[in-house]
Amino acid sequence: MMQVNPLHPLFAAELIGADLTAPPDDQLVRTVEDAMARYGVLAIRDAEISDEQQKDFSRAFGPLEIPSRVPGAARPVGKPQVTPEIFYAGNLDHDGEIIPYGSDPKSLAKGAERFHTDSSFHTMPTKWSLLHGVETPPSSAGGDTWFVDARAAYDDLSDAMKARIEPLVGLHDFWEGRKLAGFKAEITPEMRLIIPFPTVRHPLVRTMPYGRKTIYVGGHCFGIEGMGAEEGLALVEELYAHATQEEYVYRHQWRQWDLVIWDNRCTMHAATPLHSDDYRRDMRRTTINESGPETSA
Ligand code: SIN
Repeated sequence: MMQVNPLHPLFAAELIGADLTAPPDDQLVRTVEDAMARYGVLAIRDAEISDEQQKDFSRAFGPLEIPSRVPGAARPVGKPQVTPEIFYAGNLDHDGEIIPYGSDPKSLAKGAERFHTDSSFHTMPTKWSLLHGVETPPSSAGGDTWFVDARAAYDDLSDAMKARIEPLVGLHDFWEGRKLAGFKAEITPEMRLIIPFPTVRHPLVRTMPYGRKTIYVGGHCFGIEGMGAEEGLALVEELYAHATQEEYVYRHQWRQWDLVIWDNRCTMHAATPLHSDDYRRDMRRTTINESGPETSA
């Protein structure tokens, strides 16, 4: 018997009693789609599944986005091996050993500590991310994930602000996002060659398939089309500051085998650092698009 329980007054819920070891049937797909439309974030408990089962489950909701691998990025070779369709968000190196936090000041992963929506620097119509807690540290050591309900934040904007932002288009860029997140090193043309994402455009206000409107800024949004750089960034930061106020934030404290799904179109999320290098955090993410082929952006 499946049960959906709210985890926050505005959004986010848990699903208990779902069996993800078998291919998802119509009832499970409908339960997850309905809960995602209402809550935007859904923690499926006790999902003790393999990478292959995570991919099969994810594909029931949309085509996978294939990661664009960054040379040298952390990725374990433990058991089971992370497959090419999985994004890695843990603290283990290629040998499965803990990478001390902060040991690489240029680490790109730090960008995830600022509220963002996954892959907004891609042109693809990103839908959800599904993050699997294979090994989870105790919350007292850090490593929680924070989520923002950008629909509720939109609802609370003044009518004047809603009218102002309705026609605007946000500019999103992987490297500009890293700069906003405090990435200190100079961004060289070589780096842009390794991760060659150009600036892309997305509407600042999105309408969800079920009709609710939402602010779409995230950590990679650095400007507004047709505005000067300063004015555009100021508006982006105003919306970002509004949306990330405490009342719109749910803090997820991980349990092992949680599979947490979030809708990238209407939520933002931020990783929190581990305060201790004594704990392993092995987190594996699939991301799906609304439509299109299974391809890397
Ligand atoms: C992510 O930003 O995709 C990962 C979040 C986390 O590791 O908590």
